[in-house]
Amino acid sequence: MELKTLFSPKKIGNVQIKNRIVRSATFMHVAEKYGFVGERLLKMYEELATGGTGLIITGAAAVDPSGTGGPYQVVLYDESHLPGNKKLVKLVHDYDNTKIAVQIQHSGRQGVHPKYPTVAPSPIPNEETGITPRGLETDEVKDYIKKFVETSLMAYECGYDMVQLHSAHGYFLNNFLSPFTNKRTDEFGGDLQNRTKILRDIHDGIRDQLGKKFPIIVKFQSLDLLPNRITEEAGIEISKILSDIGFDGIEPSGTPSSKIVKKIEYENYFLPNVKKMKPFMKDCALILVGGIRNPISAEKILEREEVDFISLSRPLIYEPNLPNRWKSGDLTPAKCISCNSCFTTMNTGTYCVTKKNLEKKK
Ligand SMILES: Cc1cc2nc3c(=O)[nH]c(=O)nc-3n(C[C@H](O)[C@H](O)[C@H](O)COP(=O)(O)O)c2cc1C
Ligand code: SF4
Repeated sequence: MELKTLFSPKKIGNVQIKNRIVRSATFMHVAEKYGFVGERLLKMYEELATGGTGLIITGAAAVDPSGTGGPYQVVLYDESHLPGNKKLVKLVHDYDNTKIAVQIQHSGRQGVHPKYPTVAPSPIPNEETGITPRGLETDEVKDYIKKFVETSLMAYECGYDMVQLHSAHGYFLNNFLSPFTNKRTDEFGGDLQNRTKILRDIHDGIRDQLGKKFPIIVKFQSLDLLPNRITEEAGIEISKILSDIGFDGIEPSGTPSSKIVKKIEYENYFLPNVKKMKPFMKDCALILVGGIRNPISAEKILEREEVDFISLSRPLIYEPNLPNRWKSGDLTPAKCISCNSCFTTMNTGTYCVTKKNLEKKK
């Protein structure tokens, strides 16, 4: 079978992507201390770029020092961060016109920084960390909007092809979307229009400076399994609002974001609700993430125009050259067995534990 659609080009905003394969943002913890781009990080992106992915989305980069998940997470908020990021962009661009987006983030109520207090839209205790974040004043929310805009402008200056706002997985921007973590009574809380206002204001702030020449995409929480949070209906409504705002692409995620996929029925696990968003997409690319392992089913999903791109994280940790393998005609599914053992390596430099164990046995 020929993977005609999977390997056909398509645009996100004004940027042509050579195929429909996106590398979903994956935090690798291999930056130099305090978030500078160094040789280990460059090597990892080189492997991805040579592997045939059309659009690489970087692991989350923090928009200010208080928003980092640790000293080895990439950051982008200061002039000193520009040279390393420029080097990274150039390296990726040099490989067969591969495109690169930077994902930008603040840890919000998941923050456990030893120096900075944890902040969020509302002071709802976080049972996992044991920390109750400080709820932000309206002016402080506006300061954070500025930080996201400024980081995006720096990303443009570095040559990134687009920026992705991280509004999923319980981090700062996701905290605004969820009725469980956002109890605000100002313009940034209340109904869905108000809860998405922070994304609208960041989007508009970037557009005011750069117009349509720099695509803005967003990964957002579209489904929570716990009560009083984001329902499937709310997720679909959010997708419509984001497309109406003018985002160039959306990548809907949810809880759990990295599901264990033991059976074929569990593959493409966000597809049932994500395909319902397609009719609401204006000039907005719909990117499917979550459990995509099989090139033939990916081809069919794209052929039926249920989504515009497919996005992979764990399969590319195991096999950075997976797109090239599929392109060469080897259509066996991704080798990643979705065991999630790579999460245990996240604080020391993410790698595929299964692959390493197999190599040891050889
Ligand atoms: C080690 C690891 C790190 C991740 N880091 C991020 C991240 O920085 N930002 C993000 O939005 N998602 C992150 N994710 C989630 C993935 O992007 C993706 O949404 C999820 O793993 C489902 O896709 P998959 O089945 O292809 O792995 C991470 C996943 C893994 C396994
Ligand atoms: S450790 Fe498991 S989930 Fe992670 S990349 Fe390897 S096989 Fe996939």
